[in-house]
Amino acid sequence: MNDQEKDKLPLLLGVIGDPIIHSKSPAMHEAAMKACGLAGSYLPFHVKSERLEEALQGIGALGFRGINVTVPHKLEVMKYLDRIDEGARYIGAVNTVVNDGGTLTGYNTDGIGYIRSLKEEAVPDLTGKTVVVLGAGGAARGIIYALLLERPAHVIVANRSADKANELAAEWADLGRLSGCGMGEAAEYLQAADIVINTTSVGMYPHVQDTPIDPDLLPEGIVVSDLIYNPLKTELLRRAELKGCTIHSGLGMFIYQGAYAFERWTGLPAPVGAMRAAVMASMG
Ligand code: ATR
Repeated sequence: MNDQEKDKLPLLLGVIGDPIIHSKSPAMHEAAMKACGLAGSYLPFHVKSERLEEALQGIGALGFRGINVTVPHKLEVMKYLDRIDEGARYIGAVNTVVNDGGTLTGYNTDGIGYIRSLKEEAVPDLTGKTVVVLGAGGAARGIIYALLLERPAHVIVANRSADKANELAAEWADLGRLSGCGMGEAAEYLQAADIVINTTSVGMYPHVQDTPIDPDLLPEGIVVSDLIYNPLKTELLRRAELKGCTIHSGLGMFIYQGAYAFERWTGLPAPVGAMRAAVMASMG
């Protein structure tokens, strides 16, 4: 395709996952395109694992500019890409694919999206902070990687299975001061924490009364953040607020991971306000 033809075609974007029906990405990115005056579409695609390779071939063949990749394909998709960005390689997961003339490159915008929302909405400067991260799964990896780039004083990852937390701390020892521990041992670190981030699914709808740690252990007046955005205010955040903590919900992470993806696809600054409004509207 020559450049003239490329410029005249609508921008094709989408998201692949299984399930996909509840994704708010189409509404968010369609609003972003509209706000930027771009002609195009962002569509949800229900792709089963056994057809993932074909789906990726389709992206290249049909001239999609890019896609988002969601559960359960974030790891598997890496096999079918031509290039993987350094951050995504460290994290071991891709949520954004960019198609440059048939060359597919994978990025991870989840962690950097989360950190951007944390900085914009709660803690402008993370340098020198002590941060306790609850959970050591895929979401935690993205966040911890992006967090360590901000030069915090100390990051402690606390997980139900202590081994997984200790393994992550050992794997990334060269990226910053990172320690691992079991969830039960988090209490001793919490006293020194400036920020606590829940990356586990504990407290997500419909189990809205659950908390990943005893909220009484939270020091007063710190920042408490939860990746969950259904409900917008988890029980952990509700209890933290009662202790005078600044609370931060996971909705910003969703919006800013989308903002970074949009910027990679279009080269334009993401219209974050329009994206947020569209997500809020789709949540009813
Ligand atoms: P994600 O990509 O959302 O992080 P994941 O990679 O499956 O999903 O990781 C889930 C994380 O939530 C893990 O840290 C998991 O702890 P384990 O490694 O011990 O399984 C944590 N988690 C899930 N359910 C939990 C629960 N009921 N209590 C405590 N931690 C839980």
